[in-house]
Amino acid sequence: MSQDFLELLRKYNIKPVKNSLAEHLREPDRFESFSAKTGDLLLDFSRTGMDQQVLKQLLAMAEDRGLKHARNRLFAGENVNFTENRPAMHMAMRSDDVLAGLGTKTATLVSDTRQRMLEFASAFAAGHLPGQPGQAVRHIIHIGIGGSVLGPRLLIEALGEGDSPQVHFLSSVDAHLRTSLLASLDPAGTAVIVATKSFTTGETLLHARRVMDWMEQALGREVAQQRLFAVSGNQEAVDAFGALRENTLYLPDWVGGRYSIWSAVSLASAAVMGADGFSELLRGAAEMDRHFQTAPLAENLPVLMALTDIWHRNVCKYPAQVVIPYDYRLRSLPAYLQQLVMESNGKSVDSQGRRIEYSTSPVLFGEPGTDAQHSLFQMFHQGTDIVPLSFIGVIRPDHGDKEAHAALLANMLAQATALATGTAGLGDQETTDVHRQMQGQRPSVIVLLDSLTPFALGQLLALYEHKVFVEGVIWDINSYDQFGVELGKVVAKAIQPALESDSTGVAENFGLDGILDYIRSKD
Ligand code: F6P
Repeated sequence: MSQDFLELLRKYNIKPVKNSLAEHLREPDRFESFSAKTGDLLLDFSRTGMDQQVLKQLLAMAEDRGLKHARNRLFAGENVNFTENRPAMHMAMRSDDVLAGLGTKTATLVSDTRQRMLEFASAFAAGHLPGQPGQAVRHIIHIGIGGSVLGPRLLIEALGEGDSPQVHFLSSVDAHLRTSLLASLDPAGTAVIVATKSFTTGETLLHARRVMDWMEQALGREVAQQRLFAVSGNQEAVDAFGALRENTLYLPDWVGGRYSIWSAVSLASAAVMGADGFSELLRGAAEMDRHFQTAPLAENLPVLMALTDIWHRNVCKYPAQVVIPYDYRLRSLPAYLQQLVMESNGKSVDSQGRRIEYSTSPVLFGEPGTDAQHSLFQMFHQGTDIVPLSFIGVIRPDHGDKEAHAALLANMLAQATALATGTAGLGDQETTDVHRQMQGQRPSVIVLLDSLTPFALGQLLALYEHKVFVEGVIWDINSYDQFGVELGKVVAKAIQPALESDSTGVAENFGLDGILDYIRSKD
């Protein structure tokens, strides 16, 4: 990938367009030309500044960048994670065709693990430990952080219809939640899942030790061990921790944490969604894989979404992006996407090891609508920075309140419209008071799901994964490592002793003496 990205932008003469969003929206066939559909998903990117010419140029640039070749390399299991010399094959967790390409031994291991995970999930759903109908499970404590918790939590909120078993998540090392949770649970009716690919993550291991101490004190070591389930790629560490092999589910090293929702990390979610629901989630994601691999670039949702983002980030130079799901069940989607997008593409060195001089991942944040309208949206309408929005809507709700649902979707469409056209869109009623004016020109995309089914959610999450991949290819960065999170962990280890005792030492070098003294003075 020798051609510099900035050179490509110049070569294809990709520049901001003069027409306003309101003018674009009046173009005949704007929606037809700037929307695409596959399966249960629609992408509407008509409220962006791109015109036909720009879109054509962006597509040509992607082609020139070698996107198709890169996509083939991804699916062929080549080492696209080039800094860690390994493939990124999370698609193999959901698509048997992709899995078969990995060879019989790996394919068998992965499908056996999936089978065992679904059996465990079914036992939990039936209210007992796997293979032990007499041992009740009414609660599951899922311990994990980052990719080892965000996906499972999203799935349960979005698709967990029943509340049995009840799943409790422990992630941040803050002990407040854990202490109150343990005080409310009966160890004899609780199973513990420790999900950590590396089995070295400090927060997860500290919670796991404390929770297992609590369980062992009540039930004894042997019984407590039977209630402990590990999901990890580090068998040695799992053994050292004391989880039983028959209770351990394997996580291959070619599945990154933020891409692990398709794996046994989602054991607790599968228990609540049901094995069929989880299989449908995988089927939806596999369907998006097929679409990404086969649809022409001009009709390819992940490609179109990525090019829209590239347009906003590198041509319009917008520093942030916001995602607003208009469905309460998707309230954790922004948190999930924050990790997927920012941990994957928050990079500044290219594949040749050069520091790059263009922008990569925007800041991504969000919260559900309509709540967000009453907190964040003032800035989106009148702030000095333009923040492109992604609205996520669901056409058919799973409740019968038609009026409420119409109000919800009307609010979403109203925001997209008002942001695009501003007060000028009101025509005669437009105000002359400058404080009350909104200039519009604030772009957004809308993603619509027919209904919030496991299949549609699988498609949606795989759409975002592939969008992130396309952006990584265009920016020529590695979307699959995350060295940036390591430094903070090392520094925290050096500081912790100074907080646990009066000891000084390494922390002194960090310019923390003042604040450490202040904290200690409050002990
Ligand atoms: O610190 C970042 C990170 O490595 C994420 O990439 C990952 O999702 C999270 O920590 C948890 O990692 P693990 O599953 O190994 O505990």
